Amino acid sequence: MNFKGAHIISVRDFGKEDLLYILDCAARMEEKPRPALMTGLVMASLFFEPSTRTRLSFESAMRRLGGSVVGFSSPKATSLAKGESLKDTIRMVEAYSDVIVMRHPLDGSARVASEISHVPVINGGDGTNQHPTQTFLDLYTIRKCKGRLKGLKIGFVGDLKYGRTVHSLAEALKHFDAEMHFISLSQLRMPQTHLDDLAEHGVRYHETSDINEVIGLLDIIYVTRIQQERFPDPVEYEKAKGAFVIDRELLEKAKADLKVMHPLPRRDEIAEEVDETDHAVYFEQAHNGIPVRQAMLALVTGMME
Ligand code: NCD
Repeated sequence: MNFKGAHIISVRDFGKEDLLYILDCAARMEEKPRPALMTGLVMASLFFEPSTRTRLSFESAMRRLGGSVVGFSSPKATSLAKGESLKDTIRMVEAYSDVIVMRHPLDGSARVASEISHVPVINGGDGTNQHPTQTFLDLYTIRKCKGRLKGLKIGFVGDLKYGRTVHSLAEALKHFDAEMHFISLSQLRMPQTHLDDLAEHGVRYHETSDINEVIGLLDIIYVTRIQQERFPDPVEYEKAKGAFVIDRELLEKAKADLKVMHPLPRRDEIAEEVDETDHAVYFEQAHNGIPVRQAMLALVTGMME
């Protein structure tokens, strides 16, 4: 695909070759710093929902390429607090910037913004739906620590219902012959539409609520936070939290080269004692956000081919 001017909204919009191309561009970014590549360009960073890694890594990526950043990290400080619509906000911001990165609590909001904006929109997470740049850095991390993307056995554990990082990553991994194991409580299962889509693509998947049953098979376990803010009922959240905890005792049953990933932030789902083991790659994963997001910014603004 032609990345120049493209919006980055959903992993579904990218084929296997596109995904591999993004990873190669990120590797080029990591090899060689380009401190003046984006000189004179402005990135708008519109975060209607809390974020640490996504916002700061995008902003840092842009600055390290010589570009500058405008934006907000909470809608409370903007005219949204006065009731301005997302459409009107985008109409203004497209005139102030060369690329827009946004995160918003509503599923589909990034797509709506992309239909209005004349500058590229990059989705930094829309509700429970998609988080494409997280997936690109997840794939980048997997390829780096496993040496390949193809034919891996991947477990997803935690909040598979509301977790947008899981939805995006599963969508991407269907191109790479992955065997997927979905580990969750029954009320937080992977949504049926996603499972149907995987089945349609011939993906082998398996669902369980017993992590002990599958931990020994896996090459990667992708752990997610229970998304408290998306639970309609606080009682349901209380029942769900703490259901799965990755600790050293559990990891004794795992393959020696199992890698534990997490998009972060974590609550209690990975014990801190795991951080020091060779299994833990989640901080490295977060660091990979810089070259991957540098590549995305440079590709959509036409500064990298
Ligand atoms: C995730 C998100 O916002 O979807 N975090 C991230 O971007 N690294 C996961 C989460 O909030 O649990």
